[in-house]
Amino acid sequence: MKLILLGAPGAGKGTQATKIAEKYGIPHISTGDIFRKNIKEGTPVGLKAKSYIDKGQLVPDEVTCELVKGRLAESDCANGFLLDGFPRNVFQAATLDGMTDIDAVINIDVDHEALTERITGRRVCAKCGESYHVSVKKDGKCDKCDGELIQRDDDKVETVKSRLEVYNSSTKPLIAYYEKTGKLKTVDGMQSVQDVFRDIVKALS
Ligand code: AP5
Ligand code: MG
Repeated sequence: MKLILLGAPGAGKGTQATKIAEKYGIPHISTGDIFRKNIKEGTPVGLKAKSYIDKGQLVPDEVTCELVKGRLAESDCANGFLLDGFPRNVFQAATLDGMTDIDAVINIDVDHEALTERITGRRVCAKCGESYHVSVKKDGKCDKCDGELIQRDDDKVETVKSRLEVYNSSTKPLIAYYEKTGKLKTVDGMQSVQDVFRDIVKALS
């Protein structure tokens, strides 16, 4: 199954992606996670991406599309994949159309007022990247690998504002783009994590 997860920053893409990838046995490809790994390792891609990510702007399309093209060519993607955070504008979507055929696009719909609170309260595992929220996770340790929970550099209020603006101007138009293909499945993201997942599985069946 070849899937795309669409949704605003903080909509719960990463949270649902872990569960979807596990259920369907497909790799979870998050361009944001790939950039953060490159930043940590100080690679040329990481150095280039950092200046954009820190400002809440999109990394240039040529860098991002090249990275995704290489990742989709890896053997674990032969039977499908789940893209999280890509495509993020119409140019990237059209580029992806030239690479492969997608089976379904899941759009996680969340009220915009809820997004800032979700993002600024998010803590991620420094080792495996799993997402948590401070309101429910108090011990600062990852349930999966016991790694330390930290705040992402781009989860500060000022950067979040810019990320939400970029979402509205560049990424939101993808809802109409995929609606035309008949592959778009919108789920209500204002429910519990389990209920959002149940609706995604239902939409894919
Ligand atoms: P990226 O890492 O993709 O970030 P994002 O799109 O801003 O999305 P987030 O990861 O912030 O949110 P999410 O939807 O994954 O939410 P999560 O599950 O963690 O991109 C980062 C940057 O990289 C971009 O700004 C850009 O610079 C660059 N980049 C990446 N891709 C690019 C591309 N294609 N082109 C160019 N540049 C690119 O959940 C959020 C919080 O809510 C957590 O605390 C979680 O516990 C909580 N939560 C989740 N679900 C629920 C629920 N149902 N109820 C209550 N709380 C919930
Ligand atoms: Mg994410």
